[in-house]
This record gives sequence, C-alpha cells and structure tokens, in this order.
Amino acid sequence: MRHSAIYPGTFDPLTLGHYDLIERASGIFDRVIVAVAEHSRKKTLFTVAERVDLARRATRKLPNVVVKPFRGLLIDFARDQKIHVLVRGIRAFSDFEYEFQMALTNRKLAPGIETLFLMPKEAYSYINSSTVREIAERGGDIRGFVPAGLVGPIQRKCRGGRDR
Ligand code: COA
Repeated sequence: MRHSAIYPGTFDPLTLGHYDLIERASGIFDRVIVAVAEHSRKKTLFTVAERVDLARRATRKLPNVVVKPFRGLLIDFARDQKIHVLVRGIRAFSDFEYEFQMALTNRKLAPGIETLFLMPKEAYSYINSSTVREIAERGGDIRGFVPAGLVGPIQRKCRGGRDR
C-alpha cells in the first residue's frame, strides 16, 4: 500500500513518547500499523497479547491506526503487509547509533523498504518503557508518562494485581 507505514517496536509498555510518534505518523500516512514485536532482544514484562491490548487501548481514537503483533523479521512482516515505509523515532542523539544500524541492516536485507525518522515532542524525549516499569513496580505515579487509559492496567500488572 502506497501511503501506509509501519511503526515497529517492543512497546513494553507503550508510552506517551510512542503515542506522540504514532499520532504524528497518522497525520502523515493514510494508514499506520503499530507492529508489536512478539519476540525482541529484550525479555519483556508484558506478554505480546498485553502489549497489543495496551497499544490498541491507547490508539482507539486514531481511526487510521491498527495494531498488529509480528514475529520473525520486521522486513518480512512489511513485505507481507505490502508496506515499504518503516517509521522510527529519534528522541536524542543517543538513539542515533542503534537506529542507524537497524535502518541500514533492514535496507541491506530489503532495499525497497525505507526507514523514516520522526522526532517525538521534546517533553517526551527522556521517557522510556523500562523507567515506566520501574516507577510502576515501586508504586510511583506514571500518569505523566503513559496515555491516561493505560495507567490502571500497567499499575495492576507491575504491582502484581494490587491496586494503589
Ligand atoms: N517514546 C518513548 N520511548 C521510546 C520512544 C519514544 N518515541 N522510542 C523508543 N523508545 C524507548 C522505548 O521505551 C524502549 O525503552 P526500553 O529500552 O527502556 O524498554 C526503547 O526506546 C526502544 O523501544 P521500542 O521503540 O519499543 O523499540 P525497540 O528498539 O524495542 O524495537 C524492533 C526494536 C522490535 C523494531 C526490532 O528489534 C525488530 O525489528 N525486531 C524484529 C526482528 C528483526 O527484524 N531484526 C532485525 C532488525 S535490524
């Protein structure tokens, strides 16, 4: 599909920074697939079903965004979906090396697939998923870090089912 893009990630869990990126991409492309990696290099806290569910809850109001899990190589998923644009976020200079390596590897594997980089709002540039997990696990307030509808489910998971 010509005007579609894939925004891939682990989303363990999705944060306001990820959401900001999705919103920006949904304003540029006709359709955005948020692709949740079933297995990533990281050991995840949330199962893939939970990460997909959180991403769906967060993006419910964005009509041109769909959330799908994927396994295997990202480029194979992109080919399968007939999409040749990948969107990734660069929050700070420190993201660059990792993203550069990933984009060039994907390009080597699949020359027809391009990676586009967007910058999330600067207010979210320091947020990451592991910090959110750590705060929630210790009973801290995550409202400033994740979309409003995800606060309860993330807290319940991180605190072993206990509500505050
Ligand atoms: N806002 C907030 N946080 C962000 C962010 C943003 N806009 N962009 C990245 N992050 C953070 C995440 O919270 C996460 O933090 P954490 O390390 O504390 O958990 C980290 O940056 C990166 O996470 P994410 O954006 O979810 O991406 P990822 O690097 O986990 O995703 C895949 C990597 C899944 C896209 C990649 O491993 C992949 O494609 N895997 C499939 C296998 C494959 O094809 N491999 C070859 C690829 S070269």
